[in-house]
Amino acid sequence: MQITVIGCGYVGLVTAACFAEMGNRVACVDADEERIAALQRGMSPIYEPGIEGLLQTNRRAGRLTFHPQLGPGLSHSDIVFIAVGTPPALDGSADISQILGVAAQLGVLLDSPSIVVCKSTAPVGTACRVQAILDQLCQRRGLGWQHRVVSNPEFLKEGAAIDDFMRPDRIILGTEDADAERTMRQLYEPFVRNHDRILCMPRRAAEMTKYVANTFLATKISFINEVASLCELLGVDVEEVRKGIGADPRIGHHFIYAGCGYGGSCFPKDIRALLHMAREHDTELPILTAVEQRNQAQKGWPLRMLRKVYGERLAGCTVAVWGLSFKPGTDDIRDAPSRELIDELLAAGTMVKAFDPVAGDNIARAYPAAVARGQLQLFSDPYVALNQADALALLTEWKQFRQPDFALMAQLMRAPVIIDGRNQYDPAVVGAHGFRHLGVGRLPVD
Ligand code: UGA
Repeated sequence: MQITVIGCGYVGLVTAACFAEMGNRVACVDADEERIAALQRGMSPIYEPGIEGLLQTNRRAGRLTFHPQLGPGLSHSDIVFIAVGTPPALDGSADISQILGVAAQLGVLLDSPSIVVCKSTAPVGTACRVQAILDQLCQRRGLGWQHRVVSNPEFLKEGAAIDDFMRPDRIILGTEDADAERTMRQLYEPFVRNHDRILCMPRRAAEMTKYVANTFLATKISFINEVASLCELLGVDVEEVRKGIGADPRIGHHFIYAGCGYGGSCFPKDIRALLHMAREHDTELPILTAVEQRNQAQKGWPLRMLRKVYGERLAGCTVAVWGLSFKPGTDDIRDAPSRELIDELLAAGTMVKAFDPVAGDNIARAYPAAVARGQLQLFSDPYVALNQADALALLTEWKQFRQPDFALMAQLMRAPVIIDGRNQYDPAVVGAHGFRHLGVGRLPVD
């Protein structure tokens, strides 16, 4: 098929690369000319394991092309994916102006009936608004046909995006049009061969499904984090509880790891957008409001632990931070717990020495003044970051942090304190190396 993908961000690029890999011809469009120029040279603007190889092979094979503008050459696509950003507006709503802008351009440009797919996460009703814009423009141009708008939300996880796309657990197609459904099923068939994983439903239900999936996962995390805080008070190890409840298949082992809060570009934004949708209909969502509040509180957990250890003396301390991205496998620092801790430590006058396998440059760019005055230092070696540190705060569970050299760590640090924001260490093991270990909902070692 001939496909156009508009928006070369995370979702757009992964979508484009994976469809090209299956033999489709995919034209990618992005208004950011630098981004397009880099892609034309074979460089990926996003960090995602496996993406660069896919982009290069398919570009060389002529199946993947990159364009700075939606030109007439792209007017004959079978399917056009809209994968532009839907950033949060000040009131928490998702700003869909980029989607509507693209719809208006497509309405002028497309010369034959196409399937226009809303891939971006967008509030319930967005696909219908896109349909209305396209219908109006078709009418104005005196065309006797309609485009068909489908909602097809994306469920990929950063760091595992290619695998998620290639082996999806489900494909959600929001459409009431039988022809559009048939074409979309055909497009996705190679990804779900022999498995009935395509769920077709009305567009509004597809849009809602995306928000409910993310907010439900966020609810699991905030729930276990709340439980962890009670565990701390009751002298119970939350890790025991996690294993105990996860064994029940109705609960499951996923997304019940207590930690220093969820971040990223999806969960925080999607909760706020759903709360906004509820407010627009004069209703409250107390559970989701609490999920968000719990997460805010959770992001303050590392600082609370540091204050517990050092109190007012924290100002004169040096804190090493391991893990700056919101989760392993990505350089994305949006809404990452590291941001909250670094902000607080810098404000308190504490010295911060940080390490992340890939997100260091992004943090350096976010704090130019602190880097310039030397209060925030970024290192390319995790052990160098520990030199003379009064505590280590582990905020992202990169695999390389799992089994570090504790003896060396204890030698390098001024004080052996670990604030384990992802419950990576066995308190008994680190305790044996002389560390004071503070985990989320874990028992201190006597
Ligand atoms: C999330 C969803 O998992 C994807 O299904 C969805 O497609 C995507 O949002 C999106 O809407 O685009 P992502 O934001 O990449 O994916 O990251 P997750 O792996 O879901 O992790 C989110 C956060 O939850 C991370 O900060 C992680 O550290 C935290 N987390 C996760 C916990 O604190 N505890 C857990 O048990 C699991």
